Amino acid sequence: MHWRGSHPLAETVEAFEALKKAGKIRNWGVSNLDAGDLDELASVPNGSNCVSDQVLYHLGSRGIEWQLLPKCQKSKIMVMAYSPLGQGPILRKPALGRLASKHNCDAAAVALAWVLRHPGVVTIPKATQPDHVRANVKAVDVKLDAEDLAALDATFPPPKRGSPLGMT
Ligand SMILES: NC(=O)c1ccc[n+]([C@@H]2O[C@H](COP(=O)([O-])OP(=O)(O)OC[C@H]3O[C@@H](n4cnc5c(N)ncnc54)[C@H](OP(=O)(O)O)[C@@H]3O)[C@@H](O)[C@H]2O)c1
Repeated sequence: MHWRGSHPLAETVEAFEALKKAGKIRNWGVSNLDAGDLDELASVPNGSNCVSDQVLYHLGSRGIEWQLLPKCQKSKIMVMAYSPLGQGPILRKPALGRLASKHNCDAAAVALAWVLRHPGVVTIPKATQPDHVRANVKAVDVKLDAEDLAALDATFPPPKRGSPLGMT
């Protein structure tokens, strides 16, 4: 479910479960649901069968770290980070360039490794250029240490308070 619309969650879940029963889908997930929406989802029949929440998450947009991410980790709902490169501009920050040199990869691979450092988080970068795809796959081998993370926190501060879920 891309985002909450006008239809009751219970009806949408009922339809997803019918598709599962018919063998059309293996699992279902949601997108752009904030912590309160997930509580509501869990309260409808079979709502707790949700396997993932696809949400905006990148260095420049860290709001989910406050409440949504820990909640999903606790409930075993996979977080699927969309726009993990912030659609491009964040890649020009010097802090990312320095870490890219240190880890012998592109700034994008550092940004993706940063997103993937959390257990229970996967990500869906978009890349139309084959060189970008090749650069991005290197993220799985980049292990950021405490010093790297502190340098990134200095440029891209973590949230100090809760805020509504960001969307692009
Ligand atoms: N659920 C939702 O509401 C929602 C909302 C927004 C997006 N999404 C999904 O999230 C996915 C990706 O998000 P996005 O396209 O918004 O943003 P993104 O993945 O953060 O950024 C994509 C941009 O980054 C560039 N890029 C990729 N790899 C790069 C690299 N190694 N070096 C430099 N630039 C690089 C791409 O350029 P090239 O194309 O030139 O390679 C493209 O311009 C898509 O599948 C999209 O459908 C979901």
